[in-house]
Amino acid sequence: MNLLIQNIRQLVTCAAYGRTANVGPAMRNLGVIENATVLVNEGKIRWVGPAAQFNESVADDLEKIDASAFVALPGFVDSHTHCVYAGSRENEFGMRAEGKSYTEIADAGGGILSTVRATRSATRKELKKSGARHLDAMLQHGTTTVEIKSGYGLSEDAEIRMMEAIGDLAQEHLMSVVPTFLPAHAIPPEYRDDPEAYIALIIDRMLPYIAKRKMAEYFDVFCERGYFSVDQTRRLLTAARQHGLKLKLHADELAAIGASHLAAEMRVTSADHLEHIDTNGIRLLKEAGTVGVLLPGVSFFLGHAYAPARTLIDAGVTVAIASDLNPGSCMSFSMPLMMTIACTQMKMTPEEAITASTINAAAAVDRSHVIGSIEVGKDADIILYDVPNYQTIPYFFGTNHVAKVIKRGTLLEF
Ligand code: NIG
Ligand code: FE
Repeated sequence: MNLLIQNIRQLVTCAAYGRTANVGPAMRNLGVIENATVLVNEGKIRWVGPAAQFNESVADDLEKIDASAFVALPGFVDSHTHCVYAGSRENEFGMRAEGKSYTEIADAGGGILSTVRATRSATRKELKKSGARHLDAMLQHGTTTVEIKSGYGLSEDAEIRMMEAIGDLAQEHLMSVVPTFLPAHAIPPEYRDDPEAYIALIIDRMLPYIAKRKMAEYFDVFCERGYFSVDQTRRLLTAARQHGLKLKLHADELAAIGASHLAAEMRVTSADHLEHIDTNGIRLLKEAGTVGVLLPGVSFFLGHAYAPARTLIDAGVTVAIASDLNPGSCMSFSMPLMMTIACTQMKMTPEEAITASTINAAAAVDRSHVIGSIEVGKDADIILYDVPNYQTIPYFFGTNHVAKVIKRGTLLEF
């Protein structure tokens, strides 16, 4: 069966023409085609171009969608989430409104450790179910690939259980899932006085178990003051790489302790957050070809500084944006909302925000050869929006304009 998406009012291809990402001024070039047609077969994009140039006789057995009222974009790639967890932290939201900071709340036993307590007592099935609820809603809001991190178990059993739940979602959910192992998300309470023993546990026991069973594609560390030092992070990343995992890093979120410098030194795929990145860090990321994943929802939700998106883009760093969906620092998965915040607070243009959420976000999970743009040969992950033009998507906030979701060539029913 072929699927023909016809007369698309405006098709935003985000084409990269064989490159892995669009960088610098190219972030503003979305490869827009007015009144376009896309032909899909066996989940892949087979033809893209102006409707007038499509020759219908090339394909029989056609299911047609009339998209004359819609704008089409590639499905969003949310390259940084913590969407599998138990419990919730609305109490901290209230505390911040009364003036407490994220760090003060964490130091008082809240923060990540509060979600760890709830997650440790949840079953694999419960974790899977809570993740699936988020993934269902994310698909409905135009996201078709999601990276998911562990990091709320912080013990051998609970971290493995989280990775099993993430693996179940990867197997069973329509969403494409990128599994990331993040056992170094915080120092577990039992190791408070001996963090090195926890690092040894990760390197000697957890990593071999996860790597042998191919339960994770990426390994990530929260390299931050009060969490894991640059030296500890370097040892963890080195061990993970020896086990064949690809690398990511939470870098420069609360303070600049050298995490983005380490990200470049280790040539990690992406360095995420970067709210406090310094000039050297920017230069090093550019030279290393590391993707900078910015998380506008975190700065918005916590009332923190925003990452210097303009400087990063103008310096030629590959910039992506992601939601960071998690119960502590960003209770939203809406990529259109992240784009709005990126435009209003970080002064990215709507075009840059779209590039950062599609082709460049695909590069952040090393998938820009298969997803992230509407180009021949790529997965047919295509979203139709009930809007007059693409600028309208970040222009509205708090409204979902998704009309239809096509995931690997299948039109989903909600
Ligand atoms: O990316 N920074 C570390 N991890 C998350 C926050 C996790 C939490 O507060 O539960 C983040 O912001
Ligand atoms: Fe995070």
